[in-house]
Amino acid sequence: MLIAGNWKMNKTASETVEFCSALRRRIGGIAEEVDVAVFPPFTSLAAAVRLLATTEIAVGAQNVHWATEGAFTGEISAPMLRELGVYAVIVGHSERRQLFGETDETVVRRAAAALEAGLFVIACVGELEEERDCGDTDAVLRRQVSALTEDDRLVVAYEPCWAIGTGRTATPDQAREAHDVIKSLLDVPVLYGGSVTPGTAEELLAQPGVDGALVGGASLDVDSFAAICESAIRIRS
Ligand code: PGA
Repeated sequence: MLIAGNWKMNKTASETVEFCSALRRRIGGIAEEVDVAVFPPFTSLAAAVRLLATTEIAVGAQNVHWATEGAFTGEISAPMLRELGVYAVIVGHSERRQLFGETDETVVRRAAAALEAGLFVIACVGELEEERDCGDTDAVLRRQVSALTEDDRLVVAYEPCWAIGTGRTATPDQAREAHDVIKSLLDVPVLYGGSVTPGTAEELLAQPGVDGALVGGASLDVDSFAAICESAIRIRS
């Protein structure tokens, strides 16, 4: 079971120091039973790595470029992240797909470069609301997932776009159905993401085929993130 916190474009380096110190005090000890990772923005990665170095809590980045170096202004490569002590990356988040022109092809290239460099990868997939309304959820997931290649260090996050930052979560049945589709194509852990909160985590995490959560908004507050991690522990035990 993995609980991953996607901070998006939130928390400066000094806010990260404060958050990680508090997180370490709050769940530094329990994280051995459930895998926990935080994904700060690039400028806060070094602070997070330093603060969490002596804990079981991993630090990841929110994106990575496919080249190792070169003329790619504004991009960050996998070896750069590795040297910093970063353990994992998110690729293909729906905000990258919708706002920054990310495609299945670029997602696959980013994932491949990160895996090649020894990073763990959380690859995000999920349908738009209109795709669900048209009955296309299954086809969208099949297209996005079949672009990926199975790997021991690959995790898929199912994040229905209409549930991200909206306060609407997939029902347990919707989550289970989507996870089943993904798992029929790739034998990898599958996280659920989209408005996971301390109030909704336990029921979602208890669904068969749900191997953890990718948490956005609720991961920005130590108490709510820790409460979600504690739900995961209760389900595991
Ligand atoms: P949310 O975001 O929990 O704020 O809905 C999830 C995500 O985008 O990973």
